[in-house]
Amino acid sequence: MTSTTPDWRIRRAERRDVLDLLEIENDQFPEPWTRSMLLDEIANTESRRYTVAEERGVIIGYLGVMFVLSDELHVNTIGTRPGHEGRGVASSLLDDAWAQARARGVARATLEVAVSNSRAIALYYRYGFAPVGVRKNYYERTHEDALILWADIPPAPRSGSLG
Ligand SMILES: CC(C)(COP(=O)(O)OP(=O)(O)OC[C@H]1O[C@@H](n2cnc3c(N)ncnc32)[C@H](O)[C@@H]1OP(=O)(O)O)[C@@H](O)C(=O)NCCC(=O)NCCS
Repeated sequence: MTSTTPDWRIRRAERRDVLDLLEIENDQFPEPWTRSMLLDEIANTESRRYTVAEERGVIIGYLGVMFVLSDELHVNTIGTRPGHEGRGVASSLLDDAWAQARARGVARATLEVAVSNSRAIALYYRYGFAPVGVRKNYYERTHEDALILWADIPPAPRSGSLG
């Protein structure tokens, strides 16, 4: 069992974080979101929850989720800053979102992921996601298909380690 004491903290994203989020978007996604898209998402605190992992003043990852109806969570975006992958950053962001979901009585989560994104798919499978279908030609630029994944959010924190 891996015991991790992360050096980062998870907090709500703020407007001032947008350049860091943009940097990670541009590094990590073939179709990065724009500044105004990100600002709109951060500002929409009613149905969205954008969080960042901050380590000694550096944003090393972020997650954006959308609460749909009363009992669904949609993972809009998740990214870890290059050089910080494999440290558990994305996992800790998802753990925080799962805790929030439980607090709101949200029991299910869904997302789309590019079929070739094996790293992200492996992460999602560890969180109980399973494929339910494919959206053909989902990504405008790459024309890649997306897997549609769903997961049940367990009622209590998962036992054991992150890994
Ligand atoms: C997919 C992505 C978000 C994963 O982020 P991450 O911070 O590296 O994820 P984690 O570290 O939590 O978990 C990833 C791996 O690190 C391992 N890990 C977790 N904690 C660890 C630790 N303390 N030390 C070493 N490894 C650890 C996990 O077991 C996991 O193993 P895997 O390589 O077999 O998957 C990141 O690669 C990324 O930003 N990709 C580009 C953007 C993207 O594709 N986003 C998803 C779109 S749907």
